[in-house]
Amino acid sequence: MIGIGAGDPEQLTLQAVKAMRHTDVFFLLDKGEAKADLTRLRRDMLETHLADRTYRVVEERDPERDRSAGGAAYSPAVGDWRSARADIYERMIAEELGEDETGAFLVWGDPALYDSTLGILEEVRERGTVPFAYDVVPGVSSVSALVARHRTGLNRVARPVQITTGRRLAEEGFPEGVDDVVVMLDAHQRFRAFADEDVDIYWGAYIGTPDEILVSGPVSEAAPRIERLRAEARERKGWIMDTYLLRRAPGER
Ligand SMILES: C[S@@+](CC[C@H](N)C(=O)[O-])C[C@H]1O[C@@H](n2cnc3c(N)ncnc32)[C@H](O)[C@@H]1O
Repeated sequence: MIGIGAGDPEQLTLQAVKAMRHTDVFFLLDKGEAKADLTRLRRDMLETHLADRTYRVVEERDPERDRSAGGAAYSPAVGDWRSARADIYERMIAEELGEDETGAFLVWGDPALYDSTLGILEEVRERGTVPFAYDVVPGVSSVSALVARHRTGLNRVARPVQITTGRRLAEEGFPEGVDDVVVMLDAHQRFRAFADEDVDIYWGAYIGTPDEILVSGPVSEAAPRIERLRAEARERKGWIMDTYLLRRAPGER
């Protein structure tokens, strides 16, 4: 399992390139038209770094997730989707990989952060139908890329930082005792709830790619700008990936 960074091909580590060069088969999951860009970036990486060697690419269509399922239905929907993915991984490993061959999944950002590939591969291993061993190559996550581009730290001196989702931020707000929160997977711009508070935002979309957009400042001032830029970019490209850090004065509440 190879972390490939969150968009900038130069974030591919030397370890990742080395692992790619020892790979016979690359498994790519195609997430449909909207995310064709992400599949293309992976293919470009292979062409750039493996120009002098042969390898195979196996592409499968990612199963659709039931995104209409909210609230209590959310977890079962994710569970079904994971099992459907596990079936695909199992088949790919069993049928597309020779006995002594090495396969690789190229995982966006870092495989350890809000990515299901690790869990799904473990599920396949636990089923015991196809024996295999694997290693994980860490990657530069979108969180590292975000704060680097804003030239800020993730945490303040000796203070905690929490990484969470837009859904949880909406439900729980700032976690107890935490004043720095990184928010991922937020389709609803939940930061708007903090427009009346003394909270700064460091926001980035398509970080590390030619389409990168960065905005920072107090939420009260930055939110309308982010909303406009986000809507325009989403309209233009058909998809968006954005992440942000919310920072409030320690002991605000
Ligand atoms: C399924 S998670 C995968 C995270 C990935 N494993 C990582 O380490 O960054 C997808 C979320 O990551 C964030 N993300 C990934 N790449 C990004 C990028 N280039 N710019 C902004 N956000 C990004 C967005 O919050 C998106 O909703």
